[in-house]
Amino acid sequence: MSATMAGTGNLPRPLMRVRNLMKHFPLRRRAIGLGRSSVRAVDGISFDVMKGETLGVVGESGCGKSTMARVLMQLIRQDSGEVVFDGRTVGDRTLPLQAFRRQAQMVFQDSYASLNPRMTIEDSIAFGPIVHGTTPAKALDRSHALLARVGLAPARFAGRYPHELSGGQRQRVNIARALAVEPQLVILDEAVSALDKSVEAQVLNLLEDLKRELALTYLFISHDLNVVRYLCDRVIVMYLGQVVEIGPAAEVFDSPRHPYTKALLRSVPSGDPLRRLDAPPLSGDPPNPIEPPSGCRFHPRCVVAQPVCSRAVPSLTDCGDRHAVACLRWQSGSGYSPASDIGGLPPIRTVEVSHA
Ligand SMILES: Nc1ncnc2c1ncn2[C@@H]1O[C@H](COP(=O)(O)OP(=O)(O)OP(=O)(O)O)[C@@H](O)[C@H]1O
Ligand SMILES: [Mg+2]
Repeated sequence: MSATMAGTGNLPRPLMRVRNLMKHFPLRRRAIGLGRSSVRAVDGISFDVMKGETLGVVGESGCGKSTMARVLMQLIRQDSGEVVFDGRTVGDRTLPLQAFRRQAQMVFQDSYASLNPRMTIEDSIAFGPIVHGTTPAKALDRSHALLARVGLAPARFAGRYPHELSGGQRQRVNIARALAVEPQLVILDEAVSALDKSVEAQVLNLLEDLKRELALTYLFISHDLNVVRYLCDRVIVMYLGQVVEIGPAAEVFDSPRHPYTKALLRSVPSGDPLRRLDAPPLSGDPPNPIEPPSGCRFHPRCVVAQPVCSRAVPSLTDCGDRHAVACLRWQSGSGYSPASDIGGLPPIRTVEVSHA
C-alpha cells in the first residue's frame, strides 16, 4: 500500500459530506402528557470531513456523538438528512451499503464488541475481506500482514482468541480488522478511552503512523480534549445533538468562540495553578435532549447569555479561517448586544429559562 498521498495535491476536498442529519429516538407513550416525544440525539447536523484529515468530535456525555457515528456508518438509519461519500449518496444505487462499508469502518470503545469470542483473531481480521470477495487464502495473508503491522507477531498471536489478549492488544486487532477491507475513512468512537495511559499513547502513535502510510481519514470521537488537541486537524464541538463550533484544532482550542467550548476547555484539569479558576467552569448537567431549551440550547448554562438567547436560534456562522460558531454573540444583526459584553467579561446574567 502506498506510503504517499501523491496526486491528491494540496487542495483538501471533502471525502464525506453530512447534511442536515437527524436522528430522534421515539419514547414510549408513558411520557406523561407530552404526546409523542422523542430523544433528539442528532438534531440537524451538517459538516464535511476533508480527505486526509483527522476530524475530532467532542462534547459532553449524551450530546449525540455515538449516535451520529452510528448513523454515519448506517448502523442505524437517519430520520432525515443525507451522507454523501466521495460524491455519492450513501445507501443510493450508486453507493449501496455494502460498497460503502468497504470505504468506511469503525472502531468502538469496547474492544470485545466487534470481535467474535469464538473466532481466532486471524479469522476475525480475514472475515471482512472474505465477505467482500477476497479468497480465504489471500484474506489470511492480509490478516497476518496487518497483525504484524499493528505490532502483534502473527506467529504468536494469529491463533489466539480475543479473551487471550489484553485490552490494548484487542484494540490493535480491531484496528487491523477495520483496515482489512482497505477503507478510506475510519471512525474511532472513544477507541482508546478504555486503555491505560501508556497503552493509549502507543495505540495513538500506531493510529498516526497508519494514517500517514495508508492515506487514511479519521473521524476521532473522544471526551479527552488533550488527546483531541494533540491528534486532530479540525474539531467539531457538539451540544445537545447539534454542532456549536467547528474549526481548525489550534483555533478552537486557543481561540474558542462558543461559550460552551470555552467552558468545556476550562473544565479540563490543569496542572498549572495559574490556569485555574479564572472563570467559572461548566456547571450543571446538560439539559434534557427530549425537551431542549428554546433559542440557543446552551443559554440556561451560558455566562454571557442575554434575553434574546432564549428566543432566537443561532445558526452556524462563518467567522473566518474555516472556523464557524453557532452563537448569537457572533452573528451580526442577531439582537445580541455586544455593548454589555466588553472585553469578553461575563455580563450580569439575565437568563430566561424556557422550553420550546
Ligand atoms: N437506542 C437509543 N434509544 C433511545 N435513546 C438513545 C439511544 N441511543 C442513544 N440514545 C440517547 O441519545 C442521546 C445521545 O446519546 P449518545 O450515546 O449518542 O451520546 P454520546 O455523545 O456518544 O455520549 P457518551 O460521551 O456518553 O458516549 C442520549 O440522550 C442517549 O440517552
Ligand atoms: Mg458515545
